[in-house]
Amino acid sequence: MPRLDGMRAVVTGASRGVGRAIALAYAREGAALVVTGRSARGLEGVIRACREAGASCAPVVLDLADPASVDHAADAAVAALGRVDVVVNNAGVLGSRRPLAEADPDEVGHVVAVNLAGTLRLTQRLLPHLADGGAVISVTSGAAGRARWAGYAVSKLGLEGMTAMLREELADRGIRAVAVNPGPARTDMRAAAHPGEDPATVPHPSALVEPFLAIAEGADPGPRVEAAEWGRG
Ligand SMILES: NC(=O)c1ccc[n+]([C@@H]2O[C@H](COP(=O)([O-])OP(=O)(O)OC[C@H]3O[C@@H](n4cnc5c(N)ncnc54)[C@H](OP(=O)(O)O)[C@@H]3O)[C@@H](O)[C@H]2O)c1
Repeated sequence: MPRLDGMRAVVTGASRGVGRAIALAYAREGAALVVTGRSARGLEGVIRACREAGASCAPVVLDLADPASVDHAADAAVAALGRVDVVVNNAGVLGSRRPLAEADPDEVGHVVAVNLAGTLRLTQRLLPHLADGGAVISVTSGAAGRARWAGYAVSKLGLEGMTAMLREELADRGIRAVAVNPGPARTDMRAAAHPGEDPATVPHPSALVEPFLAIAEGADPGPRVEAAEWGRG
């Protein structure tokens, strides 16, 4: 029996990278999916791959920086899935890495708008449709709160706070809010953050999906977990 048979999941930022790997893993384990990206064209590859894996998979265009797009995307996701069991808040942007004191406040605002405010808005819009016992999984980073990572570090620290608050507030519905740090993954964002690094030395995102599968299945590792430490007890 597939691990996620009958489950319905929304995975944001699934056009490439970590989100694409999570969507594919969910598809292979029997989940029905909504995948998001900023363009329908950018989602064609993941849609094809998920359908080849036998999954029902619907593309939804979402720009987390645009509140109207977020509201529209939430409505479209609910229309496609009906009930939602798992929301994976994966989409994000890096922005400039520089001391916060010197960072362009407009750019910091944009990164926070995408990684935190837009993500919260989408989550709020989906919550009434989230099944009791479901999960809100938000993709954080080891750079949360890290000096000289400007808006990214601020936004990920905020995302972890958002997750901890939702976790407490939604406990009476049995909804598990968990922040997962995937750790280094071979993606466009990683290459932009570490331009001197040999990508071959970085794990492919498909190697990091197990906590996302297990939490969707029902595991509750607490408010924050490291993918690299998953399964090590
Ligand atoms: N890679 C790593 O080593 C690493 C480590 C720790 C944490 N993370 C986290 O993992 C998540 C995925 O990162 P990644 O490395 O896979 O990055 P990526 O390859 O750059 O992919 C980012 C995804 O987010 C989507 N996206 C970008 N801007 C968006 C916006 N304004 N609205 C909606 N979607 C948007 C992109 O889709 P479109 O361009 O198609 O819109 C894309 O699917 C991020 O939250 C990142 O912070 C990554």
